[in-house]
Amino acid sequence: MAISLVITPEISQQRGFEIAQRTGATLMHSAPVNGQYLQLSPTGLALCDSEQPKQRLRVDFTAGKQGFRLRQHGQAREAIVRACGIGKAPKLHIVDATAGLGHDAFVLASHGAIVTMLERSVVVAALLRDGLQRAEQEGAHHITSRLTLIQTEAVDWLNQSDWPAADAVYLDPMYRPARRKAAAAKPLAMLEKLLEQQQQNNENLLTAALKAASKRVVVKRQRLAPTLGQAPPNFSITGRSTRFDVYIPG
Ligand SMILES: C[S@@+](CC[C@H](N)C(=O)[O-])C[C@H]1O[C@@H](n2cnc3c(N)ncnc32)[C@H](O)[C@@H]1O
Repeated sequence: MAISLVITPEISQQRGFEIAQRTGATLMHSAPVNGQYLQLSPTGLALCDSEQPKQRLRVDFTAGKQGFRLRQHGQAREAIVRACGIGKAPKLHIVDATAGLGHDAFVLASHGAIVTMLERSVVVAALLRDGLQRAEQEGAHHITSRLTLIQTEAVDWLNQSDWPAADAVYLDPMYRPARRKAAAAKPLAMLEKLLEQQQQNNENLLTAALKAASKRVVVKRQRLAPTLGQAPPNFSITGRSTRFDVYIPG
């Protein structure tokens, strides 16, 4: 079912139409009584929920936790950066095949990687595109210029692309139920609700990634979660709550 898009009076109809066209959303002037909807206001595009009026989810690369990660840049090399092998080759082309809100892709690009982001949800892709546009306006052009967003099913894109599609393919396919408990994760719980009908095709995703990557495939998992596919990774980098499984294509 199409999601609703509410635009506030300050926003031009044209901008509303553009987002409605990309997302298949139905334009409305007030919030629906039930369920999730998108709201476009001067602060950007947000995912909202009529049942939780205080919650909203917006992609913001320069404030909050993501802004902190950005400011820490250079002080500590994050595990994700080491797992993707960026230290050895800063201009690596990485395909982030499950871009989501783009947090990981933004970190990779801030360390010099050229990142192609693939996201299959039209709503998530719209939130991400909006966050990238605001980051650009807020002075992060040196990072956003290394990021390209494509709204597509990653398995199809990876299988159809010329080989090799990238030096590395990065996968983080699932929002994890355990995250729901943490108060800080409430916006992520909204995303889990949005995506709960999505079919998982993780085994196919890993197979396609291994064909498309020339140097490595990196899979983000919860620290104690099973591997994504049947095959064991070549090595893993384990942090406090997260593990990065690294596969070297054979
Ligand atoms: C856990 S989130 C990724 C979070 C991301 N790493 C970040 O830092 O924000 C997973 C995302 O991958 C997307 N996804 C899952 N499978 C996909 C596929 N086969 N093709 C494209 N996108 C996919 C989902 O729609 C969801 O937005």
